[in-house]
Amino acid sequence: SVPTPQWRPVYHFTPKKNWTNDPNGLIYLNGVYHLYYQHNPFENKWGHMSWGHATSKDLLHWQHLPVAIPEMVGKDTTTWIFSGSAVWDEHNTSGFGKNGKGPIVAIYTADQPKQQKESQFIAYSNDGGLSYTNYTANPVVDLHKKDFRDPSVIWLPEQRYWLMTVAVPHEHKVQFYSSSNLKEWTLLSEFGDQGDTRKIWECPSLTPLPVDGDQTRKKWLLMVSSGNPDAATGMQYFVGDFDGKTFKNDYPADNKQFVDYGPTFYAAIPYNHLPGNRQTMLGWLMPFKTDTWPWRGQMSIARDLMLKQTGEGVKLYQQPSAVLYPALDKLPAAKKMVKQSLTVEDKVIPLNTTRQFNGNANWIEAEFAVGAAAETGFKLAQKNGNGTVVGYNTQRNELYVSQEENGQLTGHLQKLTVQPVDGKIKLQVLLDKSSLEVFVNDGAYVLTTLIFPDKDATGLAVYAKGKAQVNNLKGWDLMP
Ligand code: FRU
Repeated sequence: SVPTPQWRPVYHFTPKKNWTNDPNGLIYLNGVYHLYYQHNPFENKWGHMSWGHATSKDLLHWQHLPVAIPEMVGKDTTTWIFSGSAVWDEHNTSGFGKNGKGPIVAIYTADQPKQQKESQFIAYSNDGGLSYTNYTANPVVDLHKKDFRDPSVIWLPEQRYWLMTVAVPHEHKVQFYSSSNLKEWTLLSEFGDQGDTRKIWECPSLTPLPVDGDQTRKKWLLMVSSGNPDAATGMQYFVGDFDGKTFKNDYPADNKQFVDYGPTFYAAIPYNHLPGNRQTMLGWLMPFKTDTWPWRGQMSIARDLMLKQTGEGVKLYQQPSAVLYPALDKLPAAKKMVKQSLTVEDKVIPLNTTRQFNGNANWIEAEFAVGAAAETGFKLAQKNGNGTVVGYNTQRNELYVSQEENGQLTGHLQKLTVQPVDGKIKLQVLLDKSSLEVFVNDGAYVLTTLIFPDKDATGLAVYAKGKAQVNNLKGWDLMP
């Protein structure tokens, strides 16, 4: 194994050492964002699943903490701690609290390979989420199935009960359960066999959201990780109504909608207990074949979730979380770039210097008035004119991300059809060493991928074939 520091993100979470997959138990408490994550504490590959733990105050810088819930190895049973969620049981409905204080309760899937069984377990913490004690009467939900996993639990304030959304992967369905104490759960209903059923369903979540910010117009977002074979992996979403018992899809059963159009974004879940009805998620960026060492796997940027009314119904929009921008604004002037207006005509205009924006940890935003250009966009991780292109082709109305060598697109091309809004394409491009997240038109579409540039391939440029007007260009260099 060869160390790969050139590919270690600086503003996205990676474990200090070894493997991660899904984010787990995302919860905001006392000004701190907790991130638990599927972790192998011993090797740089999947296995020995445990809940790793890190915390952050700004969702940009993470502090590593000891494993919070380790695997349990017994004589006849090995229990791996699969994905799940964490809630703040403020009123001590579970009775696990101490000294009049409510506990944090983790609800996770116990995967028992020898028994070929998955069931839902709970564990509680009275030390602010550092360590957990397993409930002695686990499991709390058990269908005696091999595949039954990824409970996501929220508090329903109107109904005054806990709601669990959990997947039965091979049946392409989710189940909803309610509980007054997190220990006893009652099946409410099931939803499934709709949308994309080409791959198994995992890591579901159900989230209330206002439409267009109107708190009196609530819809429910049901997200499910289910591989999209066209994109290698994928997440889909449904929008509908939830009356506390049953989810009713707004769209026809065969309608498919995707959270991200790239090949790596998976297993995202929202934070619990955020102030002001904010809903923010983290997803896992699934590694490609290229090895990274001594860690493998990373998280996405924190993304705010929004629902907007469009001509085709209510749709999901995502933005890099609004709480990240104040931290960006605090960066020193040299690490910020602002260009009101730039005319780019048949040119590649470098945006980096030898000292700034040359470390592949760049966050760049701009609006492209695409009118007279055949093509326009950004070039990233460049060396001798070769590297990655995030481009918009006006003839085909196509946003694409690709490798480019000697003027030719090479490697795997990711693309999606996007119409300009008022003649403009807005791009927010987050490059962090090996991850690349592209938010299009205020997050109507997001395309996330991984790239593995050479250490010195760090050129950054804006380009156009034909004439493009680039407005409100802003950049932040996040190299420490
Ligand atoms: C998704 C997943 C989950 C499971 C976890 C195990 O990536 O397969 O369904 O809980 O990973 O690590």
